[in-house]
Amino acid sequence: MADQSRVAVYPGSFDPPTNGHVDIIERGAKLFDRIVVAVLTNADKKALFDTVERVSMLREIFSGHPNVEVDTFGGLLIEYARRRRANVIVRGLRAVSDFEYEMQMALMNRHLSADIETVFMMPAEQYTYVSSRLVKEVAALGGSITGLVPPVVESRLRDRSLVHQRRV
Ligand code: PNS
Repeated sequence: MADQSRVAVYPGSFDPPTNGHVDIIERGAKLFDRIVVAVLTNADKKALFDTVERVSMLREIFSGHPNVEVDTFGGLLIEYARRRRANVIVRGLRAVSDFEYEMQMALMNRHLSADIETVFMMPAEQYTYVSSRLVKEVAALGGSITGLVPPVVESRLRDRSLVHQRRV
């Protein structure tokens, strides 16, 4: 019999993971049999955390969730989703401003593979303004990021920000 399990891929940069990402993954873990958090490996010179660090933070955060897997991918997302036999790509939508880019990506991915559906999920309201970029900026400038990122991310960001401040 064909495997009927619902596998979702949740792709992203996760530099670093925020509580908004965590919220979406937890929602996805309830909806799907398995959710694969897929960290993009494309070398981004401006990234704060390397792929290994992002994966290790995510694995620590989801160690108690047996149907959440953390993996890496490079190249085309749709090829990765096919390899993982995923039927769904999950993306979070925080605000209308996210929509245009997300719709383009969803339709391009559908053009590349019509049988993999993109599902948009909204995070809890308290995370609608939270982004990895702003969290990094606030942390680097010494502001509070408590409650915006998981504790493991907060402590690693603090370490990075302190190193940064000492250097300048
Ligand atoms: O967290 P991000 O940076 O918004 O995630 C963007 C991501 C990784 C989902 C997107 O850049 C992506 O899918 N990259 C893989 C390359 C690819 O498949 N490009 C065509 C997508 S339409």
